[in-house]
Amino acid sequence: MIEAKNLTKDYGNFRAADNVSFTVEKGDILGFLGPNGAGKSTTMKMLTGFLSPTGGTGVIGGNDIQQNPLEAKRLFGYLPESGPLYTEMTVKEFLTFIAEIRGYHDKDAAESVIKRAIKICHLKEVRNQTIETLSKGYRQRVGLAQAVLHDPPCLILDEPTDGLDPNQKREVRKLITSMAKQKAIVLSTHILEEVDSMCNRIIIIANGKVIVDSTPDGLREKHPGKSLEDIFCDLTTSQKGS
Ligand SMILES: Nc1ncnc2c1ncn2[C@@H]1O[C@H](COP(=O)(O)OP(=O)(O)O)[C@@H](O)[C@H]1O
Ligand SMILES: [Mg+2]
Repeated sequence: MIEAKNLTKDYGNFRAADNVSFTVEKGDILGFLGPNGAGKSTTMKMLTGFLSPTGGTGVIGGNDIQQNPLEAKRLFGYLPESGPLYTEMTVKEFLTFIAEIRGYHDKDAAESVIKRAIKICHLKEVRNQTIETLSKGYRQRVGLAQAVLHDPPCLILDEPTDGLDPNQKREVRKLITSMAKQKAIVLSTHILEEVDSMCNRIIIIANGKVIVDSTPDGLREKHPGKSLEDIFCDLTTSQKGS
């Protein structure tokens, strides 16, 4: 469903993403893991068509993001790293605006998808508040609500639990896990326990390169006696300066 094909991005002489490839099928939650600056956001921006690659491409449900952007964009929801803009809008106004952009021109149809997104993301009590007045946890849920609004088969989530407190993290993880069966999901994170609790697949990226494509259990089997955190640190520090 989601395919990164040799995605590469150069900023001047600096290669932020280097030949990144992976595929995610329906039912998968892929944890896209890497230290800060590893190239996670850059890869996700290319995959979703928000940044043009130096090389390679993204394919969503068979549609190349560069050749068929409209078809591809219908099939995924994207939570960008910066969270929702238009903070002067209320939650309801923002989601109404997004519904309009996504082609829900019929008022009843729009109402129904907005209601559903508000319900799934537990936003009912803040729906008439402006986004700027919301806590980080609620803002992140607004970001998720816009990503799931059109009930896409694919979700691409850039650090969905970043900046949340433990309770909020747990809520958002539950929310994502509850959608997993019907969707192909890739989420970036630098939190190991998150990958362990949610993801059936794991990709580790360091210095723009994929250095591991495995499962949490597969990784532990390969490095017996070590925690995921130890493995992650060993693998990513040994990459430094290479
Ligand atoms: N617009 C840009 N111009 C130059 N360098 C950038 C730009 N965006 C990101 N980078 C660099 O690319 C690298 C990867 O960044 P990013 O993809 O945001 O990493 P991550 O999301 O894994 O933390 C970092 O070293 C970052 O400083
Ligand atoms: Mg990032």
